[in-house]
Amino acid sequence: MKRDFLWWRDGIIYQIYIRSFKDTNNDGVGDLNGIISELDYLKELGVDALWLSPLYPSPDVDYGYDVCDYRNINPQYGSMDDFNLLIKEAHQRKIHIILDIVLNHTSNQHPWFLESKKAKDNSKRDWYIWRDKMNNWESIFGGSGWELDETTNEYYFHMFYKEQPDVNWRNPQLRKEMIDILDFWLKKGVDGFRFDVFNAFFKKKDFSDNPSKAGIRGFDRQSHINDIDQPEMDGLLEEIRSLIDRNPERFTVGETFLGGPEKAAKYCGDHKMHETFNFDFLKCNWSPKEFMSAIQKWENVLPEDGHPSYVLNNHDNPRSATRYARGENDERLKILAALLITLRGTPFMYYGEEIGMRDIKVSRNQIKDPVGKRYWPFYSGRDGCRAPMQWDTTKNAGFSKEKPWLNIHPDYMERNVVMQREDKDSLFHFYKDLIRLRHEETSIRDGLFLPLIYEPRSIMAYLRQSGDDMLMVVMNFGWRSMRFFIGNTLKKLNWKVVLNNQEFVLPEDRSTPISLKANQVVILKPE
Ligand code: GLC
Repeated sequence: MKRDFLWWRDGIIYQIYIRSFKDTNNDGVGDLNGIISELDYLKELGVDALWLSPLYPSPDVDYGYDVCDYRNINPQYGSMDDFNLLIKEAHQRKIHIILDIVLNHTSNQHPWFLESKKAKDNSKRDWYIWRDKMNNWESIFGGSGWELDETTNEYYFHMFYKEQPDVNWRNPQLRKEMIDILDFWLKKGVDGFRFDVFNAFFKKKDFSDNPSKAGIRGFDRQSHINDIDQPEMDGLLEEIRSLIDRNPERFTVGETFLGGPEKAAKYCGDHKMHETFNFDFLKCNWSPKEFMSAIQKWENVLPEDGHPSYVLNNHDNPRSATRYARGENDERLKILAALLITLRGTPFMYYGEEIGMRDIKVSRNQIKDPVGKRYWPFYSGRDGCRAPMQWDTTKNAGFSKEKPWLNIHPDYMERNVVMQREDKDSLFHFYKDLIRLRHEETSIRDGLFLPLIYEPRSIMAYLRQSGDDMLMVVMNFGWRSMRFFIGNTLKKLNWKVVLNNQEFVLPEDRSTPISLKANQVVILKPE
């Protein structure tokens, strides 16, 4: 029986880093009206949902991931009226809205923290993690996780920047307030949440030291068994999920902090997150074997009630175009697009991925991301993948009339939305065609994932199959042409090409192998 289309499971989720998407009030920073003005573009691309990076008021030490008011809109991005309009306009186009929600920590400018630090007996004291001595826990952004506050001569804990104090989820009032915040946004009509580093919410009660292990930086030289992943999270996930499920068709996706797919798999299911991120694709080399083993691993570890997600890009990592493309050629990116969109799992795209945006180069004095300042020249931070969207060939790539907060990539005169829309062979059109195919084909949305080669060296090939509905995806990761033999049973079917990225002819004689050019992908369907 065919399942009904369910937006978060069957559709495509597109991440918008608001600061960099589109600026309409000319302050060099993107805004909500910018998103509204491009909803038709997003509809044309075919996405089903937008995940918006944090849109709350923030001093922007970690660009929105340091929240100082959970129930408001960052004035740089617009007003609550703009947000209401965005929800309305998006919903009219059947585009869902997912908010990034950052509940592990607040900004140190949040009124709760300003209260909390005032005195040991302050009513908000216990909303954060205060201690009179440190343990060995570190901040992932470098150095001790404990910061001395001189007002009361005690330390507070921060897993991220010192301007992001961790809240104390063991405090019942704090817990209630955070749950109320979710309810507040649900009532405003949002369709889901992306939970930032949710598995770090609880810390071990006795604050015992983390044991050591091998690693380069201090943070990596510890096994994080006491500062994250505490059993109390299970009950909280259940509570969150029951709130979410009181509203129809709402969705949660969790960013599991540290660890691979095994850990992510433990946190998703019917009473947990709907989905969690698996970041393995971000670490794969240009090797079909690596991608295939990442897929199989994910398929194997996920519980039956957990649905896979796939990610090639996000705001914390170098873009896939920067990692894999050679020069200006986008053929490799078309292979990856086909992979992302035709797998069994929800595809998450990142703004600009559809036009193959590359990372900008950032020099020492231009760095905005504090972690880049700290680790330069070994690591320059995350600004590279956050550059403004390249809309057209006008000044600042059509992103803003004023100087953007980060530089525009110099290739924008050749790489932009307008030009790719006009070029039927562009990456943009390829994404658009793939997304349309996903919407049309039951086998992609519902079907089994059946590898045809388990340890591919050049050619990756798999079937997606749901009853009689079937698609075959064949891709050549190699730099020269390769042949692929369609096996005996499959050979009997009358395959037709539904999508491909370079000229391709199916041999008339079904017993002849098919030949794929370098970096070619073909999608076939039996008639
Ligand atoms: C998540 C976000 C990252 C942020 C961190 C702290 O990992 O993706 O951008 O810096 O959480 O909130």
